Amino acid sequence: MHTLTEVAAVQARCLAWRAEGLVVGFVPTMGFLHRGHASLMDLAVQRCDRLVVSIFVNPIQFGPGEDLDRYPRDPEGDAQTCEEHGCDLLFSPVSLYPPGFSTRVSLSGVTDGLCGARRPGHFEGVTTVVARLFGIVQPHVAVFGEKDYQQLQVLRAMTRDLAMPIEILGGALIRDDDGLALSSRNAYLTPRQRQQGLSLHRALFAMRSSGIRDVEELKALGGALLDVDRIDYLDVVDAEDLGPLDTVDRPARALVAAFVGETRLIDNVGL
Ligand code: PAJ
Repeated sequence: MHTLTEVAAVQARCLAWRAEGLVVGFVPTMGFLHRGHASLMDLAVQRCDRLVVSIFVNPIQFGPGEDLDRYPRDPEGDAQTCEEHGCDLLFSPVSLYPPGFSTRVSLSGVTDGLCGARRPGHFEGVTTVVARLFGIVQPHVAVFGEKDYQQLQVLRAMTRDLAMPIEILGGALIRDDDGLALSSRNAYLTPRQRQQGLSLHRALFAMRSSGIRDVEELKALGGALLDVDRIDYLDVVDAEDLGPLDTVDRPARALVAAFVGETRLIDNVGL
């Protein structure tokens, strides 16, 4: 595995692979890698000849007062995880935006609700960085996790709208043994908060197995099971465009975001 920090060097390497006819796969991350990230690499290597993983804590997707300054980091552990999961090129830029960078990629519709409504500017930061990373790596295939289900749908919409010739693959949400969705942010949790965090998946799976079709009833059931300090949102939406639903009469997704202490946790499940 090679580690590169310079944009131009990464782009040259990836374009050379393309010119050789090799299929380039890409897994963008913000580091502090866990089994969820590793599962995306495992999925990608099955579909490509060369795997690129990026690690960049992207400042423009964090809002004021969010955890940019304390986002956990583990460069050595991350490099080992990448190596063990078939990564050929680890792109770990110090800075990704050149002076004068002023382009923003912004969607509407799929970004309107859920995290888009609760974290203004967040998805613009995500689509802008991923568009730039796509321009650098020019992958044939890119893999994103269903852990960030709205992000996955937003990035599918972006690649479609901008006619980017990149196949977007969704990787299943990976959980810890106790059911908590794996997240770099779980590192912030005290044991007591972790117990509270378990109520997210408990609520979602109770909603799923209830057989209830009425969305208000489903939300009442899930809401009653959440043991958190603050519910940011709990909703059931169309699984594709994330539009509102009254009844689960088509593929749907139940999604929750909630605070335990200062930590914001998200989780989701298909209905
Ligand atoms: P990050 O939170 O590091 O996540 C990187 C990728 O790993 C995302 O596609 C995310 O959905 C996936 N992932 C995280 N936890 C997972 C889990 N438990 N199971 C499966 N996949 C999981 O998401 C980002 O970074 C950033 O927004 C990024 C796309 C890199 C843009 O900055």
